[in-house]
Order: sequence, then C-alpha cells, then structure tokens
Amino acid sequence: MNPQVLNVQSISAGYVRGMPIIHDISITTEPEEIVCIIGPNGAGKSTLLKSIAGLLPIEQGHIRLGATNISGIRTDKLSRAGVAMVPQLNNIFRTMSVEQNLLLAARRYTGNRRHRLQHMLAVFPVLDEKFKAKAGSLSGGQRQFLALAMALLAKPHLLLLDEPSAGLSPVAVDEVLGMLRSIAAEGVGILMVEQNVRAALPLSDRAYILADGRNQHEGDAQTMLNDPVLGEIYMGARRAEAHAAKPV
Ligand SMILES: Nc1ncnc2c1ncn2[C@@H]1O[C@H](COP(=O)(O)OP(=O)(O)O)[C@@H](O)[C@H]1O
Ligand SMILES: [Mg+2]
Repeated sequence: MNPQVLNVQSISAGYVRGMPIIHDISITTEPEEIVCIIGPNGAGKSTLLKSIAGLLPIEQGHIRLGATNISGIRTDKLSRAGVAMVPQLNNIFRTMSVEQNLLLAARRYTGNRRHRLQHMLAVFPVLDEKFKAKAGSLSGGQRQFLALAMALLAKPHLLLLDEPSAGLSPVAVDEVLGMLRSIAAEGVGILMVEQNVRAALPLSDRAYILADGRNQHEGDAQTMLNDPVLGEIYMGARRAEAHAAKPV
C-alpha cells in the first residue's frame, strides 16, 4: 500500500467524550489528489479535519496514514508522521514578520531547512518580497500563502485545509486555490473543506458531502458539480436563482 494514503475508517469524534459530533465517517486521500469536503454549516466538516489533525479524541474507528495508525497521536508527532493542517483562523502569527513565521515553522522540518525555505520562497515569490514585513500587514491572500508555506515547510504527505478561501476577494480566491494543483503535484495529498464549492470543485478530484455529522454522498468532483439535485440542496443554487429572479 502507498505509505502516504490517508485512510479514515468509520470514525466518531467530538468535543466532549460520549457526545460525538461526527459519526461513522470514512474518507480517503491519496498523494497528488485534491479531495474536497462540502456540506451545510454545522455539518461537522471542521470537526472532521480537527479529528484527523489529532486535536480531538477519536471515540470509534481509526485513522491511518499508509500503515501507520495516527488516531489520537499528538499534533507534534503527527507533523513528523507527515500531516500538516492550516486552520481556518489564526493560522499565522500576525505580530511577527514573514521571516519569523517561516523560521518557526521550519523547525518542524528535519532535512536541510535553508534549502526547504528557499524552495518555499520560490513557490510563493510574494513571501520573498514581503520577507521582512509583519505578517499582519499582508493582504488576505498573502496571509493564506504564508499559512500554506508554513504548513508545507515540514514537507508533509497530507495537507489539511479548512476553508482556505474564506474571507478572500474573488481574485485572491483564484490565486490561493490556483496554487493547490501544483502543491499536490509535489506528492502531497490535499484534503480541504470549502464552502465555496463553485471555486473548489473544478480543481478537486473527488468530493465528499457531509450532513449532520455523517457521510452523505461521495464521488467525482466534476460529476458532483454538475449534479442539479446536489446543486439545489447543498450549493444554494435554488436560492441563488430565486434571488436572481426577483424584480429589482
Ligand atoms: N469547540 C466546540 N465545542 C463544542 N461543540 C462545537 C465546537 N466547535 C463546533 N462545535 C459543534 O460541532 C458541530 C459541527 O461544527 P463544525 O465542525 O464547526 O461544522 P462545519 O465546519 O461543518 O460548519 C456544530 O453543531 C457545532 O456547534
Ligand atoms: Mg467549519
């Protein structure tokens, strides 16, 4: 088996023991694959990512990366196992410079840190330009680049992204999501949660729909994008059409 495949098998997890928020969820992600998790607000998408990232107790089931059981291992050990997460909020240190943020994240990399940092600056040239600037002074898109670079510095096998496009301008959404294919091509599996399904599904390989903390549907991302029923239920297509049809 590929040592980098994420295999989440029938997990239940939550914030309080005995009161799971997600139930019996199974998902997989392979290297170079972009997998998107979509679903209504409160469906448990962030809870699922946090469970995989070792931030919440797993009550049932297990999570493997290749042959390694990563259920319940601490986040610092997870980083060594090859898992990196970019949370939706507070994913950079705003009062520190871009350089300081990157150097801090580079400490998780066991190889040649200078080379790895140079590589990241080549992947995200804007971070090279803003190297000495305070992270808090960056634009929304630039901050997401910094958060991505920090996660990638450890050279993970699996990248977990919670709503990378949230709060960004349409141009920045395209810039940030547009980077994901080339990141995946370096051998990284990407598992991302996105509300912006119209932007995320076209660049994803597969997608899972969660509802009420459970797997609801899974399949090829392009097929899902064009499925009118799913469009109505989960993507607000009907509501959007209704708004468009209203007289102004
Ligand atoms: N820190 C928390 N403590 C307790 N319950 C939480 C916490 N965060 C989220 N929840 C609950 O878990 C459920 C799923 O939330 P979440 O995973 O954030 O949904 P999504 O990301 O799909 O919008 C919600 O009912 C929410 O109220
Ligand atoms: Mg969420």
